[in-house]
Order: sequence, then structure tokens, then C-alpha cells
Amino acid sequence: MNFETELEQKTAKVEAVLRRYLPAETGYQRRVAEAMNYSIQAGGKRLRPLLMAESAALFTDVSLISMEGDATVQDGLVNRALPLFMAALEMIHNYSLVHDDLPAMDNDEYRRGRKTTHVVYGEGMAVLAGDGLLNYAFETAVCAFEKAETEAEIRRVAAAMKILACRAGINGMIGGQCADLEAEKPGENVTEEMLLYIHEHKTAALIQAAMTIGAVLAGAAQEEIAMLEKCACNIGVAFQIQDDILDVTGSLEILGKQVGSDEKNHKLTYVTMHGLDESKRQVAKLSEEAVEILASFPRRNLFLEKLTKQLIYREK
Ligand code: IPE
Ligand code: IPE
Ligand code: MG
Ligand code: MG
Ligand code: MG
Repeated sequence: MNFETELEQKTAKVEAVLRRYLPAETGYQRRVAEAMNYSIQAGGKRLRPLLMAESAALFTDVSLISMEGDATVQDGLVNRALPLFMAALEMIHNYSLVHDDLPAMDNDEYRRGRKTTHVVYGEGMAVLAGDGLLNYAFETAVCAFEKAETEAEIRRVAAAMKILACRAGINGMIGGQCADLEAEKPGENVTEEMLLYIHEHKTAALIQAAMTIGAVLAGAAQEEIAMLEKCACNIGVAFQIQDDILDVTGSLEILGKQVGSDEKNHKLTYVTMHGLDESKRQVAKLSEEAVEILASFPRRNLFLEKLTKQLIYREK
């Protein structure tokens, strides 16, 4: 199977997993569930759940393509718990986007080719939809404890929960978004160090959550998890630099979001600091380093290596 077909099939599997965990649109809370589902069902690359499953596959036999329905005890913890964490992380990612697009933050009107959640549902409901997605992520992930059969499995689920919570929080994604807002204040002296902090936290933190949760559930050793943390940090920083590049060179049609958002908000990005050419070189360098780390694991995952390389050239 060629890479494109495999990516398509795996993304479809992720979509099927996500559908299993969407909130019901009923009762007086119906509207918030609709807004949550509007955001999460808009498509997107589903990169974080994909990276989670592919990182697990570096350490154990698990395949997104053969993942069907509810896994049984014999299937091992990864098959039983991974879908819950994949869905949870994508919910957290979607919450971060709903809030990021709000007028109080980046004030953007398009996401994944559709109007943003606050444009369709109003700002109040978009705030609640973001809150709802964040909380629902933990309501979903915590069910993984019910899938654990032994003490050791319970410990792995607990470790995965901790990663999910910390990487999304004030020392992770929220911390990065905080620095991102601080950096757009007029007269703020934004250093290279601060810019790297922003990229490593607002974007790389959730990519690190993805890859290390996959590894932890699959029973990887501490040193292996540390290697994946570095690898995911590179992928995440490269991913954000590419996002900043596409904000200048992309188009609404392909990207699904309006370009020029960073300039409008006076954001300092890798592109404004170093220019387009150096930014592109940096994306390639960071990604190649990440691939080297991946290739050093005894169980090679060629699909994951290819995916990491392909992200250098992504247009959306
Ligand atoms: C957008 O993330 C926000 C960033 C961290 C740059 P993605 O580019 O992964 O968004 P979707 O999920 O594919 O729409
Ligand atoms: C957002 O970075 C990162 C998040 C945590 C949501 P951007 O603000 O550059 O992401 P886009 O361009 O709106 O997707
Ligand atoms: Mg932003
Ligand atoms: Mg934004
Ligand atoms: Mg952007």
C-alpha cells in the first residue's frame, strides 16, 4: 500500500474512533453538545491521534487499520485504552482551536474551510463548547481505568492521564498560548528564547502528549519515552513554524483558514524573525532530526517516518 492510501485509511479509522465518543445532542444542554460536535466533526488532519497510535506501534503490535469496535481483554491494554486517549487528545486540540479563534484571542472567522464555532453559535456558546470539549476529554480518557486488568496496566493508564493533563495545562499548551498573547502586546521585546517557548508549548506540548501517551500505554521504557519527547518536540516546533509559513504563503481554499492572521494580530513568528527561507530550512532540519530518532528504535515504523518527512511539505 502506498503512503497516501495508508494515510487515508488510517485517518478514516481515527474518524471512526472519534465518532464513538461524541457527546449526545439532547436535553437542555443540547446546544453546547451541537457546538462541540460542530467543531470536532469539521475534519482536520487528525494528526495527534494518528501520532499516538503510530508511536504505540513502535513498541507493540497495534495497527490502526485493523482496530475494530471494542477490543477484548486478550488484545492488550493498548488496543483497549488507546481509542479513548486518541479521542480525548483530539477533543483537547479542538477546544484549543475553538478558544484560539475567539475574538478575544486571534479573532478568526474560518477553520477547516467552515465558519468558526463562535461565528455559528455565538461567543458564549463557543466558550462553553471549548470548556465542554476539555472536560469531555477527561470524562472519556478516565474510562481507560475500567479497561485496565492488572496493577501494571492501571499504573500505565495513570501515567497517560498525567501526561494528558500536564501537557494541556499551564506548563504546556495553555502556557504557550499565554506567552503567545503576551508577545503580541505593543512594545514587548520578544526574544528568540520566548518564541521557542511559545512554539514548544502552544503546539509541541500536545504532539508530545500524543507520542508519549502512545508509548506509555504500549509499555515503553523511560529512556525510550525521553527519546520520543525530544522527537515530538522537534515535530511540534517544525509544525508550528510551517503553520506560520502557511499563514503567509497559503490560501483559504487549501488551508481552510484565512491567511494573514498573524500579521493582523501583530504576532511575532519564526517567519517575521528569520524570513521565509530560513524558516523552511529550520522545518526541514528539525523534521530530519526527528526522523533520525524514529529510525533508531529497534522496531522501525516506516509509516511514521514517512509521515514526519511529509509534514515538511504540507500545504494545510
Ligand atoms: C492547528 O493545528 C493549530 C496549530 C497548532 C498550528 P492543525 O494544523 O493540526 O489543525 P487541524 O486539526 O488539522 O485542523
Ligand atoms: C495555535 O497557534 C496553537 C493552539 C494552541 C491552538 P495558531 O493561532 O497559529 O493556530 P491557527 O493558525 O489559528 O490554527
Ligand atoms: Mg493563536
Ligand atoms: Mg490562531
Ligand atoms: Mg497559525
